[in-house]
Amino acid sequence: MSERVIIFDTTLRDGEQSPGASMNVAEKIRLAVQLEKLGVDAIEAGFPAASAGDFEAVKLVSEKIRNAQVTALARAAGRDIDRAWGAIKKAAHPRIHTFIATSDIHLEHKLRMTREQVIEAAVDAVRHAGNYTENIEFSAEDGSRSDPDFLCRVFEAVIDAGATTVNIPDTVGYALPDEFFRLVSHVRNNTSNIEKAVLSIHCHDDLGLATANTLAGLRAGARQAEVTVNGIGERAGNTSLEEVVMSLYTRKDMVGLETGIDTRQIHPTSRLVSMVTGIVVQPNKAVVGANAFAHEAGIHQDGVLKNRMTYEIMDPETVGLSKNRLVLGKHSGKHAVQKKLENLGHELSTEELARFFQKFKELADKRKEILDEDIEALVAEEILRVPDTYELDYLNVVSGTVAVPTATVKLKIRGEEVQGAGFGVGPIDAAFNTIAKMTGSRCKLMRFSVNAITGGMDAQGEVTVRLQENGLLALGKGTDPDIITASAKAYINGLNRLEYMKKNPVLSPTDNVV
Ligand code: KIV
Ligand code: ZN
Repeated sequence: MSERVIIFDTTLRDGEQSPGASMNVAEKIRLAVQLEKLGVDAIEAGFPAASAGDFEAVKLVSEKIRNAQVTALARAAGRDIDRAWGAIKKAAHPRIHTFIATSDIHLEHKLRMTREQVIEAAVDAVRHAGNYTENIEFSAEDGSRSDPDFLCRVFEAVIDAGATTVNIPDTVGYALPDEFFRLVSHVRNNTSNIEKAVLSIHCHDDLGLATANTLAGLRAGARQAEVTVNGIGERAGNTSLEEVVMSLYTRKDMVGLETGIDTRQIHPTSRLVSMVTGIVVQPNKAVVGANAFAHEAGIHQDGVLKNRMTYEIMDPETVGLSKNRLVLGKHSGKHAVQKKLENLGHELSTEELARFFQKFKELADKRKEILDEDIEALVAEEILRVPDTYELDYLNVVSGTVAVPTATVKLKIRGEEVQGAGFGVGPIDAAFNTIAKMTGSRCKLMRFSVNAITGGMDAQGEVTVRLQENGLLALGKGTDPDIITASAKAYINGLNRLEYMKKNPVLSPTDNVV
């Protein structure tokens, strides 16, 4: 029988450290529920000592999730560990994850501590966590650049102090697969009490080797893999969950390890992560990219038509891509819409479904077919939306080769109707300037992108903006067949998120401390 690998998902913590990927509390809870449905064993919900918003998010995730373990990150310091426990104490299966760096580079330049002091701090942290729970993970930050024998000493000491999982991070994505294999083997063979703990690995993708290193670590005896959905994370990202899970699934013959992941939930989860973070999945991304199962070359198409196995190593249905894409339209009933939502990984409450269905009907009146992408855009706009401070009532833009681009806008600001007009270098600039003037916003537009979310002449345009104000970074999305209207909607959505963040602080990339 195959041995089981623990899948520890850190999309909500390390994943959130992706530039611009901050999520609000409601989004974190929705994602956590989907991660549980996906079958991950542990969800790292955040870093409670980093901000009040992160504490709250971890607390709410802990109260919601009943099957998976919920983990909170803490530096090796009493105060951090107390905060972590405060946030996860109501979890059905709480875990404290504490860490300190072990490489000489970090000891000398960052911590200014000796090796002995680091061991003492690590042991104290684990003992302190032991006052709250027996489920304790210890990570040796920058483990891959640490002296292997020192790593073994640290692990021996923390396991004696009560750590039940010891993790080797390749924090800066520096390791090569055969080197990482040797390091994990060394730790396994030279840490005297290693059988009392689960050996874990946590890789970053700076050299594009995170998945290869994770597989090497598992082959060397690690039994927990720390991953994120779509590989999002600090800098170049973390090991991608879907790549590791599907490698183990597809090459079971070689590796002989299995996970508890329901692979059919991979695609819905990937899309949800992309939707709430605004981080688009590159089309050629393994397993979840739009082209991952697209065959362009004639020879390949011919082969696949004769037998899929000629050019396809995974069945698209295994990762949650249905062959029969049920297309909805204006005659579709509530039940069909609900079924579609469930297939896409969205379980809505009765009230949400009623609200969604009304918006669905409005869109279906304008368009012949409603595709999965339209449904997801509607979920993002209608269900995941934060409470509105600003609502768009009316937008009229004049532009052309001779006219000065001018926008006239009517907004509801906290329920009050306000009208304004302004200019810009182009129609979108005119709309944004006018809205900024009316709302008094001083935010900076950091990024702007437009996508056609479905094909055809009546395709919907999806605009994503990233706005920054006083260190807060918010994502805004808007969809509409008219891209100027979609842009205005995205801008207003971003402003609403900024307002929401001011009132409900969440960990945003600018206040990360790890
Ligand atoms: O990359 C890293 O070292 C981390 C640790 C906190 C586990 O994210
Ligand atoms: Zn990391």
